[in-house]
Amino acid sequence: MAASGTHSASAPHVAVIGGGICGLASAWRLAEAGLRVTVFERERAGRGATWAAGGMLAATLEAEPGEEAMIGLARWSQSLWPEWAARLGRIAGCGVGYRDEGTVHLAVGRDELTALHHRLRYLKRLGLPVEWHDAAELRVREPALSPDVLGAIASPGDHQVDPRAVVPALLAALAEAGVALREETVVAGIEPAGDGWAIRLGDGGRERADHLVLAAGAHAGGLAGWPAPPVRPAKGQALVLQMDPAAPLLRHVVWGSGIYLVPRADGRLYVGATVEDRGFDRQPTAGAVLSLLEAAWRILPGLEELPLLELVTGLRPRSRDDLPVIGPVGGGLHVATGHHRNGILLAPATAELVVAGVLGRPEPVDAAPFRPGRFPHKIEVPLSA
Ligand code: GLY
Repeated sequence: MAASGTHSASAPHVAVIGGGICGLASAWRLAEAGLRVTVFERERAGRGATWAAGGMLAATLEAEPGEEAMIGLARWSQSLWPEWAARLGRIAGCGVGYRDEGTVHLAVGRDELTALHHRLRYLKRLGLPVEWHDAAELRVREPALSPDVLGAIASPGDHQVDPRAVVPALLAALAEAGVALREETVVAGIEPAGDGWAIRLGDGGRERADHLVLAAGAHAGGLAGWPAPPVRPAKGQALVLQMDPAAPLLRHVVWGSGIYLVPRADGRLYVGATVEDRGFDRQPTAGAVLSLLEAAWRILPGLEELPLLELVTGLRPRSRDDLPVIGPVGGGLHVATGHHRNGILLAPATAELVVAGVLGRPEPVDAAPFRPGRFPHKIEVPLSA
């Protein structure tokens, strides 16, 4: 890709290893900060976990006991998304599917209702912006919901983007900012070279960089010369159905028990998603289709008439403590992975933290819980750098 940005030829060179949404977003913001940036992506940029993602910006409803440290980061990133979506939309000349109808988390049956009231109290204790909707209110908003739905938590600030619209927009932004993109290029390893780093490519080539950003998602463990961050793949399977865009069955993002439904403006309905510990296996399975459809049908029975467009599988990068791994390691090495269920949501915040780390600026939020060095087996600077 030809460089057309404004960096000077003598600007430090940053190599971003991994072209998922967090790598691309980081590359964009690094280039905008005046650095020379190259992205190395083993396949096609944005076609891994990003392409398979639902795109929910659910800083509130994704809050989980034990992961409270992430709420501040998630809410900050969520607040950055409207401006990111607008900028990316302007650069790309088309939208990125940002929809701001909010999200509802439903209960079907008495047991789920009790559990959902507990969850409401938990979210309120955290100070998160949620409210309760009874069944009558819900049906006004979403008439196609099952009559068995008894109530819901409404999260008016949890929106969505369409990752498959974000990817081409980010690629346009990278091109405009002068980022070099090397797709289908495997990075086999790294080694110190002078006061920077040599990057060994799978095809035998070598490149040099002053800073390296490891943003290789679930593959972040496979880089020789760089002790692996404790990140493993968490397989997600999802379905895409087609609604009539002129009369969609659903308008809000809807969560049920073990299921979520994300309606796109063009009528596609994303039905997600499993979370499975199966290594790098990406094979779709009948069991996943069965459980997703059964759970979705309980809350939206009319979906049985919809055309099935696609089975999607992706590998989320899941860290040992389920929090992202973001920050400098030392010696010009930086990590940005482990985003697990929140890669799309956390992309803007991740990019800003990576820029701060590379430029040695103060972090714009408290990033201590996400530092790579928090794990008992510290990620150390390799060799003599
Ligand atoms: N954020 C939803 C998921 O990862 O399935």
